[in-house]
Amino acid sequence: MRDDKIYLVGFMGAGKTTLAKALGPRLQWRVEDLDAVIERREEMSVADLFATSGESRFRSAEQAALRALLPMRQVVVATGGGAFASAQSRVLINRDGVSFWLDVSLQLVGARLSSEDGRRPLAADPATMERLFRARQSAYRQAHVRLDAEHATTDELVERIVDRFERRPAS
Ligand code: S3P
Repeated sequence: MRDDKIYLVGFMGAGKTTLAKALGPRLQWRVEDLDAVIERREEMSVADLFATSGESRFRSAEQAALRALLPMRQVVVATGGGAFASAQSRVLINRDGVSFWLDVSLQLVGARLSSEDGRRPLAADPATMERLFRARQSAYRQAHVRLDAEHATTDELVERIVDRFERRPAS
């Protein structure tokens, strides 16, 4: 684990992208959104990639995008909700940086994603979403740090992460 890179992990709708956008400037690090990296590399939206090639093709593109970001330091990476659920990607992430799990309830996710515009293929059906949510909890627990993101504002979460970094002994 290296402390010059942060990975934000957690379920869809947990607020990873929003937090990354606020945290990057606070640390003066760059921000990368894994889904956006995939879309750039594949020249296709995540939804189209799922629709035309299926989830397994999306997962290989996701892992390739993750590997492409490995050399980059001083960066906050907002991952997609499924990235940390893959054992291989999880090992890569936990070796490469510090992972923070944005832990939120299924209820909050449901409320946030209910007005979805079809951008998230796996959120289209509530039953699938609930099954995935439950199945992934044990993976997310393997993040280095769990943040209770249910009641905290983005600014509070930024300060909690920065505080954690400032309290770390020099390595
Ligand atoms: C996914 C989450 C999405 C995106 C894709 C699959 C998932 O990212 O990577 O739709 O498997 O949970 P967000 O967590 O940013 O929505």
